Amino acid sequence: MISLRPAVQADSAAIHDVLIQAFNGPDEAALVDALRAAGDVLLELAAESGDRVIGHILYSPLPLVSPSRTVRAAALAPLAVHPNFQRRGAGGALIHMSLPMLAHSGVEAVVVLGEPAYYSRFGFSPEAAAHLRHPFPPGPHFMALELSPGCLDEFHGEVRYAAAFGLPA
Ligand SMILES: CC(C)(COP(=O)(O)OP(=O)(O)OC[C@H]1O[C@@H](n2cnc3c(N)ncnc32)[C@H](O)[C@@H]1OP(=O)(O)O)[C@@H](O)C(=O)NCCC(=O)NCCS
Repeated sequence: MISLRPAVQADSAAIHDVLIQAFNGPDEAALVDALRAAGDVLLELAAESGDRVIGHILYSPLPLVSPSRTVRAAALAPLAVHPNFQRRGAGGALIHMSLPMLAHSGVEAVVVLGEPAYYSRFGFSPEAAAHLRHPFPPGPHFMALELSPGCLDEFHGEVRYAAAFGLPA
């Protein structure tokens, strides 16, 4: 059975292993370390099977800035489930549990760069992100989800990723 809980410092090595196995390399594990070191973590959850960490999700602050206002948003990245435990609902459970937690903490919207076929299951859409200026190639992979309904309606702003992402400002 899969259970979820906030990630704690003692999970670091296990989360590294999940990230390295899921992404087939160390880049996302290094990103998580850098986000933590900079204090740029809004929420981090671990999924366990028995007492083994098999999944992880992290959100960092992502202000959406326009001349008239700032939307308090979060970047979902990374999300990973160990290859031996994929397709058992852990990834979906991590997303489903975390979205209300973010909403309760005042986050108005979530942004993700990923597979539309996967993230659309949770309500993310490229349409919701259509007016956001971002550093990625155009296309359907850049998606958003409103936690505060209507907060992105006609909102023309730019995304400000945490420095650890190494993206152009
Ligand atoms: C993406 C990931 C987190 C999903 O975790 P998971 O626990 O396997 O997901 P769930 O069990 O909740 O959902 C599985 C479903 O999602 C689908 N799915 C998984 N990855 C997908 C992808 N990249 N594109 C489209 N669908 C995908 C599966 O086909 C499966 O579909 P089904 O329900 O019709 O059988 C996991 O596959 C993973 O860690 N992948 C490698 C790292 C990665 O790509 N992370 C996302 C970065 S944007």
